[in-house]
Amino acid sequence: MSATPPPASQLDKKSEAWSALFSEPMSELVQRYTASVFFDQRLWRADIEGSLAHAEMLHAQGLIGADDWAAIQRGMAQIRQEIESGAFEWKLALEDVHLNIEARLTQLVGDAGKRLHTGRSRNDQVATDVRLWLRGEIDAIVALLGALQRALVDVAEKNADVILPGFTHLQVAQPVSFGHHLLAYVEMFARDAERMADVRKRVNRLPLGAAALAGTSYALDRERVAKTLGFDGVCQNSLDAVSDRDFAIEFSAAAALVMVHVSRLSEELILWMSQSFGFIDLADRFCTGSSIMPQKKNPDVPELARGKTGRVVGHLMGLVTLMKGQPLAYNKDNQEDKEPLFDTVDTLKDTLRIFAELAGGITVKPEAMERAALKGYATATDLADYLVKKGLPFRDAHEVVAHAVKHAIGQGVDLAALPIDTLRGFHASIGDDVYAVLTLRGSLEARNLLGGTAPLQVRAQVARHRARLG
Ligand code: ARG
Repeated sequence: MSATPPPASQLDKKSEAWSALFSEPMSELVQRYTASVFFDQRLWRADIEGSLAHAEMLHAQGLIGADDWAAIQRGMAQIRQEIESGAFEWKLALEDVHLNIEARLTQLVGDAGKRLHTGRSRNDQVATDVRLWLRGEIDAIVALLGALQRALVDVAEKNADVILPGFTHLQVAQPVSFGHHLLAYVEMFARDAERMADVRKRVNRLPLGAAALAGTSYALDRERVAKTLGFDGVCQNSLDAVSDRDFAIEFSAAAALVMVHVSRLSEELILWMSQSFGFIDLADRFCTGSSIMPQKKNPDVPELARGKTGRVVGHLMGLVTLMKGQPLAYNKDNQEDKEPLFDTVDTLKDTLRIFAELAGGITVKPEAMERAALKGYATATDLADYLVKKGLPFRDAHEVVAHAVKHAIGQGVDLAALPIDTLRGFHASIGDDVYAVLTLRGSLEARNLLGGTAPLQVRAQVARHRARLG
């Protein structure tokens, strides 16, 4: 055992103890168990950016010299280039991204590298890195949500006049515009984007300066670092700054909701494409075949998205559970926040990208949709509304129409196919004008109020969304 701590450049020797305090090196198994470098190396850009902002401030505060600051900049520039080119040698024995970069810096620029960690701990460093990285990913996700909304708005506009049977309880309920149906998802994804933007506000606070847990005795200028890094503010309590991962949990919850929305859309696409519905077809590039059944074309992409939703929801549960038993302040448990977060971001971005493309690959089959709407007596409510307008109380009208539908089912025809005398038999106030409301199109066009399914309203919403999305 050496009397002085080994230089950082030698920490990559597996035989080294952690510090002079330790009388034996970590076992290899423990090294592997505790290391995070093989997944947290993806934080390297944020780590370097954070270190440079910290070092710049140390220099501005007179805590390191101009030569040290220059050396750190030079070293970091080289490290950046090494990582980008793939030449950087990540070492398991150096545990994580932070120690790997710091050790290489010290190797390159000597003592200046050892001064970088002044007034800093890996605890506030890692919290800063994750926030910086996540902020960028949130921006990318918001942009992808915008692209998906735009793609859906395009399909909605083309299909404003296409009639889909609207369902409740998966039973035919009332005719709706297919465009209106798609715009429901645009609303969901718009709220998802809002939620992401809201989460970003709380992600975008600076933990650096909290050091290990209690702050530091150096005269750091935290506001200056926050400004350099584009943070909106500084975490106001050092213990909180290093220990809570609520921002990651919030993000995961918002991400899980996006996936839940994608999953609902997926479920509909799958149903609509099945032979029993036959409402749409999906372009071949989003489907696969079967190795045994030559006739099969399977909607794999929506199925997988529905499946991956479980995975993202699972990560949310993982993160919430990770947090619940932790005493203040930092605990190593928090290292476990990264893989679920990374996987959530990867899954979400891929899914959003693919769905924006998939929207353009939907072929609509309007005749099949109309046929299904007709079979389901989707205009029964319209007949009741017609009777109400003739003076009947709604509950009585409801009952009259139930009799009419029962009769039509017995005859195996749609309500609009019943002769006027038959219809009048159910109520004397029914006149020839009834056929205008009994058609699917009449029903659709009648719902011409804000938020309703009339094609006019759908086109107005398309215009609103276009203006909003830019
Ligand atoms: N790799 C660690 C993490 O992800 C960095 C912080 C380590 N801090 C510590 N005191 N061991 O959380």
